[in-house]
Amino acid sequence: MKFDLLQNDPKSQARAGVIHTDHGKIETPIFMPVGTVGTVKGVHQRELEQEINPDIILGNTYHLYLRPGTDILEKAGGLHKFMNWDRPILTDSGGYQVYSLSSNRKIKEEGVKFKSHIDGSYHTFTPERAMDIQRSIGGDIIMAFDECTPYPCDYNYARRSMHMTHRWLKRCITRFDETPDLYGHKQTLFPIVQGSTYIDLRKQSAEAIAATEQFGNAIGGLSVGEPAEEMYAMTEVVTAILPKEKPRYLMGVGTPINLLENVALGVDMFDCVMPTRNGRNGMIFTAHGTMNMKNKKWEEDFSPLDPANYAWVDTAYTKAYVRHLFTVNEMLGRQICTIHNLSFYLWLMREARKHILAGDFSTWKDKMVKQLDNRL
Ligand code: GUN
Repeated sequence: MKFDLLQNDPKSQARAGVIHTDHGKIETPIFMPVGTVGTVKGVHQRELEQEINPDIILGNTYHLYLRPGTDILEKAGGLHKFMNWDRPILTDSGGYQVYSLSSNRKIKEEGVKFKSHIDGSYHTFTPERAMDIQRSIGGDIIMAFDECTPYPCDYNYARRSMHMTHRWLKRCITRFDETPDLYGHKQTLFPIVQGSTYIDLRKQSAEAIAATEQFGNAIGGLSVGEPAEEMYAMTEVVTAILPKEKPRYLMGVGTPINLLENVALGVDMFDCVMPTRNGRNGMIFTAHGTMNMKNKKWEEDFSPLDPANYAWVDTAYTKAYVRHLFTVNEMLGRQICTIHNLSFYLWLMREARKHILAGDFSTWKDKMVKQLDNRL
C-alpha cells in the first residue's frame, strides 16, 4: 500500500492524495459509504459501482462476526467475494459498536465481554480476536481495537481509557504482524487516536499513535455528542501531530459541513451512517441545504428531486413522487434517497479535491458551508 500526497491547500491544512491498495486506488479526500452487514443498505452492487461509484466502502467487525460469522466469510473467500465488491473495503474493529449496540458490556484489560444485540448471547472481543476476525473478513484497511469514550467523559476516565487503548494497540500490532493475509491481497492496520475532548490527552494519544509507524492513522471518539466546535478543535490538535505523509481517517463523521471543516483541518477519509440512515428516513442533503421529503410542502412539487443530478434518480423522479413513496411507505423512496445522499456526499468530496488541486479550496469551502446550512 502507498499514499501519494499530491497537493496541499495554501490557506488551510486540506490535502489531496491517492491511496494505492491491491483492490485499486482511493482518491482523497474520500467519503466511505457504510456497508455495516456486508451491504450498503438498499443499494444494488451495480448501482453502487456504476452510479454512486465510491473508491472504498466500510464493513463492521461486530456485525459480520455475529452474522454471518467468520466461518462463512472464510468459506466465501472473504467479504469482497461474499458481497461481490472488488474495490477496497475498510472494516471497523468493533471497538465502537460494542459500546453503542450491545447491552451489558464489561470492559477489562483483557478485552470486552458483551451481550449480542441480536440474540442476547455473550461474546468477548480482545485486541487479538478483533485482528483475527478482521483477517477473516479480509478488508484492505482494518482498525485497531479501541475504546470510544462517551461525551461528556470525566478526565480521569478518559486518561485511563486512552492508555488502555494504547496498550490494546500494541497487542493488535503484535497479532496483526504475526498473522498472514488470507486472500492474496495486503491488509493494513490503522491505529486510533482517543483522548475525549481534552487537548493534553489528544496530543499524548496522537504522539503515541504516530510512534507506532503504521501506514495510516485514525481519529476516534468524536461526533459522540460534543459541539461541532469542540470536534474541530480536537481534529486540529491531532492533525498537527500526525505525520503529513500518511492518510488520516476521522471515524463516524458527519454532516456535509463537518466533512468540509475537517477536510480543511487535514483529514483525508470519512465514514458515517448519516447519508444512508437519514435517506431511509426521507431526509436528503443538497448543495443548498437539507430537505425532509415527507413534508407536505412537496405534495404538488413536480420539479426534479435535485436538478443538480448527482445521480440519475435526481432527475428521474419528482419531489412530489418521492414524497408520495414515503407517504405510502414504499421501499423505493428509501432507495432513491439513499442513492441521492451517497452520490451527493461523494460529489462533495470530489469537488473538495478538485478545489484543493486548483488551489482555491478555502474560498469554495466557505461558500459551500453557508449554502449547506439551510433547511429547504
Ligand atoms: N466509529 C466512530 N468513532 C469510533 C471510535 O472512536 N472507534 C472506533 N473503533 N470506531 C468508531
